[in-house]
Amino acid sequence: MHLISIDDLSTAEIDNLFALSDGFLEIASRPIKKVPTLRGRTVINVFLEASTRTQSSFELAGKRLSADVINIKGSSSSVSKGESLKDTILTLESYRPDIIVMRHPQVGASRMATRYTNASVVNAGDGTGEHPTQCLLDLYSLRRVYGDLQGLKVAIVGDILRSRVARSDLFGFRKMGIDVRLVGPPTLIPPGIEYWDVPIHHDLSALEDVDVIYLLRMQLERAKGKVPPVPSLREYSRVWGLSPYKVKPGQRVMHPGPVNRGVELSADLVDDDRSLILHQVESGLAVRMAILYQCLAGSLTDEPGA
Ligand code: NCD
Repeated sequence: MHLISIDDLSTAEIDNLFALSDGFLEIASRPIKKVPTLRGRTVINVFLEASTRTQSSFELAGKRLSADVINIKGSSSSVSKGESLKDTILTLESYRPDIIVMRHPQVGASRMATRYTNASVVNAGDGTGEHPTQCLLDLYSLRRVYGDLQGLKVAIVGDILRSRVARSDLFGFRKMGIDVRLVGPPTLIPPGIEYWDVPIHHDLSALEDVDVIYLLRMQLERAKGKVPPVPSLREYSRVWGLSPYKVKPGQRVMHPGPVNRGVELSADLVDDDRSLILHQVESGLAVRMAILYQCLAGSLTDEPGA
């Protein structure tokens, strides 16, 4: 099984991943957090773009499942010497990996990698394309907090234009029955958005009746050479930045990280009780263990937590 887009999964498959994640979350609370499920299997994490949470959680997920895990990172890989993605994947294929987890600055890179390997490929973020495992961990966090996802109202706010998280979350959240709206200044809403058939709002008053406010980072590093979409980060944070008093009692705040404290949200909101940011990170480890397990499920004989 490959996981390239959130659309690769049916609702039943997502529910199944969450049932597995429940088991892995329980394992994370044990004094000894390792199970032999993927013993003798090889997981290669290829991260050709910066990452803290996604890389560390995939690495730990593989290790807690007892797989042999190696990590190839951008600046220290031969990509910095001019090697093509095809040659990197063909080289790694010589080790006969079972799973390749890949983050890459170009849209479609993970799908292309599937052509050169027999391993399961997991997309850990491809440029402004998709980030399906982030969507799954966000859904799992929401399920842990709210139980039933049907009819939950979520606003995704900020730099939708360059956000692979917004893309995967929009499609995945709707698939699970969540009512999604997008909120941000017109310059941060992608052209052609009408094809997504989603409500768009250009005002923070659109947050008043939602259960969850999902904030995005201003991803300026992806804007290379283009006109900045906002006059300055200071102005953006004054108009669009969220602080505790703008969040109603009972509303929750999510963010995929990395957070820019003081830009899309104030420093005190990051640490507020209504913030699920670290809950998302905790969910991420369990969900990524479930994803690695599921990629190989057909070829495994033991129960996941055995
Ligand atoms: C996101 C990403 O890399 O797309 N972060 C993450 O995976 N936790 C969002 C971002 O970079 O702002």
